[in-house]
Amino acid sequence: MPAREPERPGAQRWVPPEGDVESLRSAAPGCRGCELWAGATQVVFSAGSPSARLVLVGEQPGDREDREGRPFVGPAGRVLDDALQVAGIDPADVYLTNAVKHFRFDERGNRRIHKKPGVVHIAACLPWLAAELGAVRPDVVVCLGATAGRAVLGRTVRITAERGEVLTRPGPDGDLRVLLTTHPSAVVRLRGRPEFEAAFAALVADLRRAAG
Ligand code: URA
Ligand code: SF4
Repeated sequence: MPAREPERPGAQRWVPPEGDVESLRSAAPGCRGCELWAGATQVVFSAGSPSARLVLVGEQPGDREDREGRPFVGPAGRVLDDALQVAGIDPADVYLTNAVKHFRFDERGNRRIHKKPGVVHIAACLPWLAAELGAVRPDVVVCLGATAGRAVLGRTVRITAERGEVLTRPGPDGDLRVLLTTHPSAVVRLRGRPEFEAAFAALVADLRRAAG
């Protein structure tokens, strides 16, 4: 009897080895590494320059991103664009991606409500992010929120306690510098409240530190 293929849960078997960003991008729509592909419109891979010095990692695509197939094109993306601009970071020197590449949501009537990816989805999708970091080889990775922090650092993170510090993680070219900050969606939720300005300024300060 032939030996059964060992079960390989997660995205690894769909990730082309040694792939550059374009080959990763063309392979990603075929991924069946977890169940999230089934409910989503399409995979949302990355945006930005494959030779960027700065990689920004979000959580997962939202409703708009799922429909358009591009990361950070919704309200969180607008806040992020504004923050990058105020921080003086050239968008051409940024590579934008997410810890999880398919939109996870709950259906309420005809609305799709964002649902945080589980630890199992983060783990399943990690081979894509690892391959992206291997291909881009950035100087710094900024994790936007706790999901990205968990994916990149491989542990539970506490954004409020650890944000803005330059942390390190072993990377493809020696230590990779990693900085945690809030997810821009958390800033979006404060819009119209007195806390908005401070939250936005803190995001800008973290981005500036990462780029500096
Ligand atoms: N939030 C994210 O984390 N990623 C996106 O692409 C959009 C919103
Ligand atoms: Fe593959 Fe990630 Fe999509 Fe799951 S979320 S199917 S692991 S690309």
